[in-house]
Amino acid sequence: MDKKLKNQIAIVTGASSGIGAGCARELAYAGATVVVNYPVPGAKAMAESVVDEIAANGGSAVSYKCDVSKEEEVQQMFSDIIGQYGTVDILINNAGLQKDAPFTEMTLEQWNYVLSVNLTGQFLCAREAIKEFLRRGVNGKSKSAGKIVCMSSVHEVIPWAGHANYAASKGGVMLMMKTIAQEFAPKKIRINSIAPGAIATPINHSAWDTQAHLQELLKLIPQKRVGQVEDVGKAAVWLSSDDSDYVNGTTLFVDGGMTLYPGFEDNG
Ligand code: BGC
Repeated sequence: MDKKLKNQIAIVTGASSGIGAGCARELAYAGATVVVNYPVPGAKAMAESVVDEIAANGGSAVSYKCDVSKEEEVQQMFSDIIGQYGTVDILINNAGLQKDAPFTEMTLEQWNYVLSVNLTGQFLCAREAIKEFLRRGVNGKSKSAGKIVCMSSVHEVIPWAGHANYAASKGGVMLMMKTIAQEFAPKKIRINSIAPGAIATPINHSAWDTQAHLQELLKLIPQKRVGQVEDVGKAAVWLSSDDSDYVNGTTLFVDGGMTLYPGFEDNG
């Protein structure tokens, strides 16, 4: 197989499960050495099993605990990884969560928690990654000095009642991503987002766990299937590789057509 990310070091945040784990596997199979970040001690076993699976398939990965919403922890993670491997080439800015509530019942804690991980966490990790990309410059492993893929959501454009904190965080990710892509493109740093639709992971289990829920969900997906984490992981590999060298500041929707106004299929 063509190893497009050979010799590159990739940090994937929130990689102990779901889309992050899928990205970690695909990047490792594309030749990157992958740091499988996890947030709390309780997620260590899951992160280790992602690492073991990658190793069993001939890839290279290590786990690393860091809460991306904490400035010192993020700085420590980057300094440890750069100390160990010499640099970081790719950041998959993935860690994210939902704390859903009707708007008038949403607590400040729920609001702040989601924004602190989904948006501030991406800011903190992107800032450390970009500092390292600028320090190192283009190193012969890639045409870019570094690549960042921000995990957004279809909810960077689709309003989502009952999820104001989450939708606001993803709308924020969109313009943070575009702004820093504009700022650092002259330095040969590429920054893009992936906007997944409904991908089968623990975060949306209740949306597809029964036939009735699944049928409701499929009404929102023109392609009539729920996405798999590999669908997102393969997009992350492409955005991290030189195959997408002229792609910068864009959001790639990996959503089976969820953003195509499926309500208009037979109406309007
Ligand atoms: C959310 C999922 C949801 C999907 C489509 C994602 O960003 O995290 O819970 O199923 O968007 O609505």
